[in-house]
Amino acid sequence: MISTSDNPQAKYYEDVYKKIQANACGDVKSCNESLFTFVKMDVLKHLPLPSTPNDVLQILEVGCGIQSVFNNIELSDLKVEVNAIDFCQTAIDLSQKFNTKKNISYYNKNISSITDTNCFDCVVDAHCLHCIPNEDDYHQALNNIYHSLKRNGIFALETMVAHKKMSFDDGYHFCRDTKILWKEKVSAATTTTDIPVRRIEDCLSLEQILLSIGFQIIYFICPVGFKVIPTETRNFTHPYDPDLLRVVCRRILN
Ligand SMILES: C[S@@+](CC[C@H](N)C(=O)[O-])C[C@H]1O[C@@H](n2cnc3c(N)ncnc32)[C@H](O)[C@@H]1O
Repeated sequence: MISTSDNPQAKYYEDVYKKIQANACGDVKSCNESLFTFVKMDVLKHLPLPSTPNDVLQILEVGCGIQSVFNNIELSDLKVEVNAIDFCQTAIDLSQKFNTKKNISYYNKNISSITDTNCFDCVVDAHCLHCIPNEDDYHQALNNIYHSLKRNGIFALETMVAHKKMSFDDGYHFCRDTKILWKEKVSAATTTTDIPVRRIEDCLSLEQILLSIGFQIIYFICPVGFKVIPTETRNFTHPYDPDLLRVVCRRILN
């Protein structure tokens, strides 16, 4: 299990999910709609074909939060086994309490520390990658994902990306040099400490990172007008929010 005292990022999410836990009474909100649409419309058709009719595809879902995207009723008939991971124990506790599908298992793991190799037919980033602000951890996470895939396994990524006209709500500031979005946090002593909350790459840099790791990109689209809300301050998008990027790529080498 990950100790939150070792990881300020995990502590940040722990606080978010503790609030959800305090209000949860069996009615945990459904998974992100955009992610579900991406998986259903763009990812399933790229899944490797099962080698035998009884074959069950192995899936790793990264940053599942309180519910796997594969928990959706419309994905119920898939012959898949899902390992859904999140580094926040409260999120994992909530997942295990409220989601009872036998083919989905929830684990407390940090994607930047996993050591699995050649295990999965598909890895789905469930909006986790842009929540890893530190550059080394971000690259490590992508490398780990690559090595966790079997040959010809696919990686599906829906993530926020930067554009020139981005701006952010009060209490947040973005550093274009480091690509890190910071949140102002007022401590009890009224001194202000900022905490890094997002990493927002631009499309071209992310494409280069994926190619340099060895991925073959088979689908790469930034749909016009699709935005991602980068903060917890609202539930509707603005034109100045980061853009949405959807990528499907394949591990081609052993
Ligand atoms: C934006 S939330 C998405 C949650 C859920 N998938 C959804 O779509 O509603 C990102 C999730 O990634 C998790 N996370 C962030 N960094 C992580 C890491 N390094 N390893 C594993 N999980 C991480 C957070 O705890 C959080 O639950």
